[in-house]
Amino acid sequence: MAELRPLIDRLESQQMLSKKEFVTLLTGISAEDTKYLREKARRAARKHFGNRIYTRGLIEFTNYCRNDCYYCGIRRSNTRACRYRLSKEAILDCCKAGYALGFRTFVLQGGEDAKYSDDLMVDLIKEIKKSYPDCALTLSIGEKSYESYLKFYKAGADRYLLRHETANKAHYSMLHPPELKAENRKRCLFELKEIGYQVGAGFMVGAPYQTAEDIAEDLLFLKELSPHMIGIGPFIPHHQTPFADRAPGTMKQTLLVLGILRLMFPKVLLPATTALGTIHPLGREKGILSGANVLMPNLSPTTVRKKYELYDNKICTGDEAAECRSCLARRMQEIGYELAVDRGDYKP
Ligand code: 5AD
Ligand code: FES
Repeated sequence: MAELRPLIDRLESQQMLSKKEFVTLLTGISAEDTKYLREKARRAARKHFGNRIYTRGLIEFTNYCRNDCYYCGIRRSNTRACRYRLSKEAILDCCKAGYALGFRTFVLQGGEDAKYSDDLMVDLIKEIKKSYPDCALTLSIGEKSYESYLKFYKAGADRYLLRHETANKAHYSMLHPPELKAENRKRCLFELKEIGYQVGAGFMVGAPYQTAEDIAEDLLFLKELSPHMIGIGPFIPHHQTPFADRAPGTMKQTLLVLGILRLMFPKVLLPATTALGTIHPLGREKGILSGANVLMPNLSPTTVRKKYELYDNKICTGDEAAECRSCLARRMQEIGYELAVDRGDYKP
């Protein structure tokens, strides 16, 4: 049975599908058509990026967070989380080690931590950009005001990752406490884009209460936003959260969504996430083979790795950055790809 191929072909030729058609694709696709879709997605990525995989060095610099997202292991209410903050010096050491290993993008990711004031962030951004002028700097520090985003951009930040989490308002309210609003999240994304950042949005596949309609809405929202990067990975429960007993997202569904995204956005920067590598030992490889073209290994000191646990059993928490890079290089080589030493900017 190959009845959904016309839908896949339309995606490939850059036509949009309706919400209903996306739902059909997400719920009714056969194993054979999934293969067809993933092959097309892989070919699209090959066409634009060749066999080169971009890497981003992730620095998880604080796990203090004022928010209380129900799915997240470092939510404010998790009093058992062991909190840490990296000093400016420690962060610069991560960059130094990362640069020597071939990273040309650094991602500063953290919880929404008021101790890292705008002034401290501006100072940190300037320092990193001064020390590594040939590197891109990405921020992933949550919802801020337009003014703060503008300050960070003027200080030299190039990119911003802020997953929209879910485009559906009702679904958003099932994953977050009432003070967090889907509209505000979306507003942030449009403002970041307006300022001039390369922007990344995204969501978790298989998040609690998520329906195929929700994913279809995510795809339509992404089309409207037209981000430069899209981060998706499976939801994975964390044992100290309200969603401890929920089922994780599946690899199958995540690979399907990755393939759809690659067809919809041939040039977008699309990571095979650590979460995907966590639910299956070859998850990241399979992600690349479904159209992903970015890997984001961790550069944080091994002493804090375990503490930035958004979900259970996160991989690579015991590995030095160097080991992780060479492990990834080998893994990519095994499937016919190589790690690029490159900023890996979005190319329109
Ligand atoms: N499982 C998978 N991904 C998660 N994230 C947060 N908690 C989890 C979880 N339990 C994702 C969110 C967030 C990103 C930094 O990590 O989508 O935006
Ligand atoms: Fe981190 Fe293999 S990718 S150790």
